Amino acid sequence: MSEYKHILVTGGAGFIGANFVRWIVENKPDVFVTVLDKLTYAGNKANLAGLPENRVKLVVGDIADKELVFNLAKDADAIIHYAAESHNDNSLKDPEPFIMTNLVGTYTLLEAARKYDIRFHHVSTDEVYGDLPLREDLPEHGEGKGEKFTPESKYNPSSPYSSTKAGSDLLVRAWVRSFGLKATISNTSNNYGPYQHIEKFIPRQITNIISGIKPKLYGDGKNVRDWINVLDHASGVWAILEKGKIGEVYLLGANGEKNNKEVLETILEDMGKDKDDYEHVNDRAGHDLRYAIDASKTRSELGWEPKYTNFAEGLKDTIQWYEDNQDWWQAEKAEVESKYASKGQ
Ligand code: NAD
Ligand code: DAU
Repeated sequence: MSEYKHILVTGGAGFIGANFVRWIVENKPDVFVTVLDKLTYAGNKANLAGLPENRVKLVVGDIADKELVFNLAKDADAIIHYAAESHNDNSLKDPEPFIMTNLVGTYTLLEAARKYDIRFHHVSTDEVYGDLPLREDLPEHGEGKGEKFTPESKYNPSSPYSSTKAGSDLLVRAWVRSFGLKATISNTSNNYGPYQHIEKFIPRQITNIISGIKPKLYGDGKNVRDWINVLDHASGVWAILEKGKIGEVYLLGANGEKNNKEVLETILEDMGKDKDDYEHVNDRAGHDLRYAIDASKTRSELGWEPKYTNFAEGLKDTIQWYEDNQDWWQAEKAEVESKYASKGQ
């Protein structure tokens, strides 16, 4: 039985939030979820389709709307905060919504949690730590070859997106120290799985191939991301909520480092194409080189272990999901691609 019977999940109609809500419905039968989601371009009611009304309620609204947030917070035992503007490329075009949601929105939620003295978990990203050098650029047995992010890593964000996430983390830390807020933070690596918006790397390439468009690789494709299955992220957040120490930072990752070229070639081969059948396009400005998570503190202190660690299998399942759910993404495909095309991407 959980001590958190009614949780308020912000951004619960987005990719990771919706997978978390689905995980709760399946694994935590005594927990009721209120989702607060603005349904921006990245939010979709369909991500919660089929979930029972006696377990999940969707409230459409903005996390920066103080009156609404305070009203919802007063009936909740905990806030799990996923809502964000989440795409680096969009933040390079227009940072404003990132400031409003990621900073002002987080501030509004923190004030509500403080007023009603409720547990707060802040979902954040490994990108707050900036990037690591590529392993191949380091001397053979040199310093830093195996370096990964830890909860002690220095904040060094690169983009408007990651800097607003870093700022939101710092707000949470300050609310813990100054006001005694019962909060924890998780910083997680790149997620993959169903319901991810088709602007993001893996779904973009899968849906390109289905649509007869050549996949697009930024730069030389050597950039490394540390992939984790979205359901392992969900179980990790729950473990932190229940067992994490107040004021602590926990990293979630599954030792899934792969460079973008490797991932793209695997997708192409899995979908029956030649592995070279893609285009190099303009690189992202300020493109982070490598992310890598050391999740040993989370594993040893909380006993959390990722379950879905076979990336090749998880990728096949994800491809299948986009093939089986074309109604979910087809209507948006042309617009997403025309935005990228206008930037030579
Ligand atoms: P997403 O863009 O798919 O979903 C974001 C959700 O937040 C959407 O449903 C959107 O409608 C909602 N939202 C946006 N602005 C809002 C506002 N002002 N008020 C209420 N709702 C609002 O993002 P995601 O990939 O699911 O990421 C969720 C969280 O996890 C973010 O905080 C992100 O920084 C973090 N994160 C993401 C990854 C990743 O790989 N995608 C990895 C680590 C951490
Ligand atoms: O590390 C966690 C972060 O992972 C989260 O905080 C972000 O919310 C999430 O979007 C993700 O950020 P990335 O920028 O790493 O993800 P994206 O899917 O945009 O890109 C993954 C990599 O693929 C990155 O190196 C850029 C590259 N890329 C991306 C696209 C869209 C391509 O080569 N081609 C593409 O078409």
